[in-house]
Amino acid sequence: MAHNLIFMTGATGVLGQELVKELLKTTHSEVAVLARAKNRASHADRVKKIFTSIDIDSHLGSRIHVIEGDVTHHKFGIKKADLEYLERECKVFYHIAALTALNGTEKECQQINVGGTEHALELAWDLRKKGKLERFIYFSTAFVAGSVWNHCSKEDKLPAKPVFANYYESSKYKAETKVREAMAKGLPVTIIRPSIVVGHSETGEVSDFNVIYPFIKLFAHGMLSKIPTHLKNTFNIVPIDFVIRATCAIVKDPRSVNRAFHVVAPKPPTIGMLLRVGEEEYSTIPPIEVIDPKHFKKNNMSAQEQMVFAMLEPYLGYLNGHLTFDTRNTRQILRGTGIPMPKTDHPFLKTLVRYAVKVGYLAI
Ligand SMILES: NC(=O)c1ccc[n+]([C@@H]2O[C@H](COP(=O)([O-])OP(=O)(O)OC[C@H]3O[C@@H](n4cnc5c(N)ncnc54)[C@H](OP(=O)(O)O)[C@@H]3O)[C@@H](O)[C@H]2O)c1
Repeated sequence: MAHNLIFMTGATGVLGQELVKELLKTTHSEVAVLARAKNRASHADRVKKIFTSIDIDSHLGSRIHVIEGDVTHHKFGIKKADLEYLERECKVFYHIAALTALNGTEKECQQINVGGTEHALELAWDLRKKGKLERFIYFSTAFVAGSVWNHCSKEDKLPAKPVFANYYESSKYKAETKVREAMAKGLPVTIIRPSIVVGHSETGEVSDFNVIYPFIKLFAHGMLSKIPTHLKNTFNIVPIDFVIRATCAIVKDPRSVNRAFHVVAPKPPTIGMLLRVGEEEYSTIPPIEVIDPKHFKKNNMSAQEQMVFAMLEPYLGYLNGHLTFDTRNTRQILRGTGIPMPKTDHPFLKTLVRYAVKVGYLAI
């Protein structure tokens, strides 16, 4: 019999991997992870390889159970015996899987993020009614509020008329709406809303360079020379170790049932700070020209730069929005846990860039 079985989707992703590791280290729980086969590797081989690469030894690894499935299918297409196992044992269900590419198409985002969450909720209701599920934990994003408008996002509601930068944001909004509907019907839910997750606060380490990193790469590699923004604009990033520790502390606290939590930087860095780090670390690249978005004209760029600029468009909201986040719920729960809100200052940006250079993601 499993001790307090946790079931998790998205365990092979950047956040899921670290969360599994933390849960294995800090609890006695066993963790059942949903995984799919990919690039000719079986679901089980992929999980084994990933967890070995992040130093989960065989002792800790013996508490991981791998379940084959895909979130785009009803009940994730999980085999009958595995469904019965979850019904018998699962107490906590983390739905983390999503398509996180900011340039994902409308169809892909709908299928994976909205459809995937509907399927997760369908399964959660079954595990609640037939089994012993106590909590459904959903990974949303701080940008469900839409990144391209001037708004202070509250934790316990969604804005009525958000302004989105891409299909990732709009699909996560629809998905959180579904989760909130289930919560209103009696499913015990906790919603975690990180901003843009980046490397470890002290080392910069991260297992994959997604979301904001490809954007930094375009500039660091000299592929774009102009950027439509203001130096004083901010972008909200949050170190991965804070997201993991804060999530565990939030979930552990019974006050987190039926509430949402902004897991974000209280004082986000400015574009000016990022460009300064770029200039300090990349002395060979000419300084990037910052142009007031009102006067920015794509046509003034070379044909090659226009092509690269098209890749940047899904990110522009993050450079020009004035979205801010209320963090009352998160602060209240973290008070007394010894987990401070994260610092995302100039030295932290340097740490991130230096790690990406050290492992060869950014060339120098
Ligand atoms: N990273 C961020 O900056 C950030 C910020 C705010 C919120 N979030 C949210 O946090 C969650 C995790 O983000 P992440 O950065 O860890 O994502 P990630 O690294 O892109 O990982 C995505 C995970 O979802 C899984 N997945 C995608 N499509 C699937 C499908 N059809 N069936 C089964 N699994 C599927 C992937 O499995 P495969 O390995 O098989 O592809 C992977 O485990 C997401 O819900 C995201 O919206 C992330």
